[in-house]
Amino acid sequence: MKIAIVGAKGQLGMDFCRVLSAETVVPLTHGDVDVSNFAQVNQVLDSASPDVVISTAAFHKVEECEKQPETSLAVNATGPRNLALACRRINAVLVHFSTDYVFDGRQQQPYTESDLPHPLNVYGVSKLAGEGMVSLTWSRHFVVRTCGLYGVAGSRGKGGNFAETMLRKAAEEGPIRVVNDQVLTPTFTGDLAEAVSRLIRSEAYGLYHVSAEGQCSWYEFARKILELENLKAELKPVNTTEFPSPVQRPAYSVLSKQKLNRLGITMPRWEDGLRRYFAQRAQNR
Ligand SMILES: NC(=O)c1ccc[n+]([C@@H]2O[C@H](COP(=O)([O-])OP(=O)(O)OC[C@H]3O[C@@H](n4cnc5c(N)ncnc54)[C@H](OP(=O)(O)O)[C@@H]3O)[C@@H](O)[C@H]2O)c1
Repeated sequence: MKIAIVGAKGQLGMDFCRVLSAETVVPLTHGDVDVSNFAQVNQVLDSASPDVVISTAAFHKVEECEKQPETSLAVNATGPRNLALACRRINAVLVHFSTDYVFDGRQQQPYTESDLPHPLNVYGVSKLAGEGMVSLTWSRHFVVRTCGLYGVAGSRGKGGNFAETMLRKAAEEGPIRVVNDQVLTPTFTGDLAEAVSRLIRSEAYGLYHVSAEGQCSWYEFARKILELENLKAELKPVNTTEFPSPVQRPAYSVLSKQKLNRLGITMPRWEDGLRRYFAQRAQNR
């Protein structure tokens, strides 16, 4: 299989390149192709001629998205539409990533693919529009909603990841304040790349929720990070209101993996993913 990976220098893109190394991989960086540029997307995918296009490209700094709605829509909605049109023309499967932020977080049980999205911010709106653009344009697609990503390469868009931020703060003076009223499922990009690499071998196209199993607050995630690294820093649980932000975020964004599980693909628990993250991180040093 020939697989083009758009966003190849991002944390998820890097793990796809690693996990799929037995296939013919064409890594495409932002410098190689800007998804918001229709002509360039067509030209680059024509010359790569892949069977599958995996796009991890996104504009996902949520505060910046709020200030730049046009850019958010260009990258997160028009971008996937451009990719879907190009994939339709060359008959390639398109894998596109979306987010738990399409939900408002008012639910108290894991969100399924048939639950009604209701984004609370511009980023979520633009990602929901991107999902629609893909599914409207090209049938041979996988739209994968995921949650709380962290990978060894670190998020290009956000700069680093939560685990590294906690390790850095643990080395500084004073208590670390972390929100305890936002519940999610942190997901190691290596685990996500493994699961999606299996998903694309099926022809069960459509929308899927793929995140780790289990759930925790950011505070509980931070506590586990420090525990696994044997760090004794003082951690303080706080409420979201203690970090005033112009951007609303869902208080609960756990995704149900039942649809994925029905294909025989399961996800590991988030704590196991975190152990694998530290193992891979140690290997890379
Ligand atoms: N991070 C999370 O917690 C999270 C949670 C849920 C869903 N997601 C979704 O998961 C996907 C992967 O996220 P990630 O954390 O791996 O992101 P990432 O590390 O920031 O990687 C995104 C990649 O896309 C590239 N890119 C940005 N704008 C582009 C454009 N206009 N054209 C082509 N490439 C572009 C970036 O390149 P440059 O850096 O060189 O610009 C970067 O290499 C995204 O779709 C995101 O919305 C992420």
